[in-house]
Amino acid sequence: MFKIQTLNNISVVGLERLPRDFYEVASEISHPDAILVRSAKMHDMEIPETVKAIGRAGAGTNNVPVADMTARGVAVFNAPGANANAVKELVLAGMLMSARNIPQAWHFARGLSGEDAAINEAVESGKKRFAGFELPGRTLGVIGLGAIGVRVANAARALGMQVIGYDPSITVSRAWQLERDVQAALSIDDLLSRSDFVTFHVPLNEHTRHMINAERIQLMPKGAVLLNFSRSGILDDDAVVTALDQGHLYAYCCDFPSNLLKDHPRVITLPHLGASTKEAEDNCAIMVADQVRDYLENGNVTNS
Ligand code: MLT
Repeated sequence: MFKIQTLNNISVVGLERLPRDFYEVASEISHPDAILVRSAKMHDMEIPETVKAIGRAGAGTNNVPVADMTARGVAVFNAPGANANAVKELVLAGMLMSARNIPQAWHFARGLSGEDAAINEAVESGKKRFAGFELPGRTLGVIGLGAIGVRVANAARALGMQVIGYDPSITVSRAWQLERDVQAALSIDDLLSRSDFVTFHVPLNEHTRHMINAERIQLMPKGAVLLNFSRSGILDDDAVVTALDQGHLYAYCCDFPSNLLKDHPRVITLPHLGASTKEAEDNCAIMVADQVRDYLENGNVTNS
């Protein structure tokens, strides 16, 4: 019987697919053959010698010591694409929330009380203060055209936006397929200089850390909006705050809590909610459970 340990928040739908007579699945388990993890950071954990596979129920693998595990012969699996629709939907919400000042206006409306006349007066001032802008005809720049980036690009086209994409690792045939709907930018700088909104769908690594700094923000048109539903650290937050304060950027929407950003009136921060839908959690758990099972039983490797 194989033993699989779950570290946190793994949807039971995926685990229920593992046949009971061959697997024992639990959060407390000694000598596990595999570990399934969502967001728990595994870098400082002691990973038992019995572990042959780790399944990360999400796209990124930053919370898993992949190089160390690979050196030990442990296969690491992830779930690319399994939560892409959920992230896409939140990116769209982020664009709309930023363009229409929705969190700020909601906060304002909650604070209104008193006589009808006073409220009506406040409503009139709110209408002016939180007036926004519409998306059709605006340009969205998508950095990273993987499962999430392509979905975001298609959805933005459906909203009447122009879309420019940049992804250095995309194949020529994939670029050809995308060409009708997504114009290819020549470089990140080219994309930034032509985009009203920019969204990032790349992993955090030595090439992408602080990919967006003060100089690059200045390439963007005045009034642009940045959206980060990927990883904290891809943008230099200090540079973003300066550009917001100067009025060069209109808004920043990011899916991470941050002491620096949380009180800024032009920033919307969320607690990494992109993949937090029932559907995405189930899809990720199913994908990694299937992969780990196939590896333990048959030695097959997918998405490792
Ligand atoms: C991902 O890498 O896909 C997300 O971080 C998933 C999650 O929020 O668990």
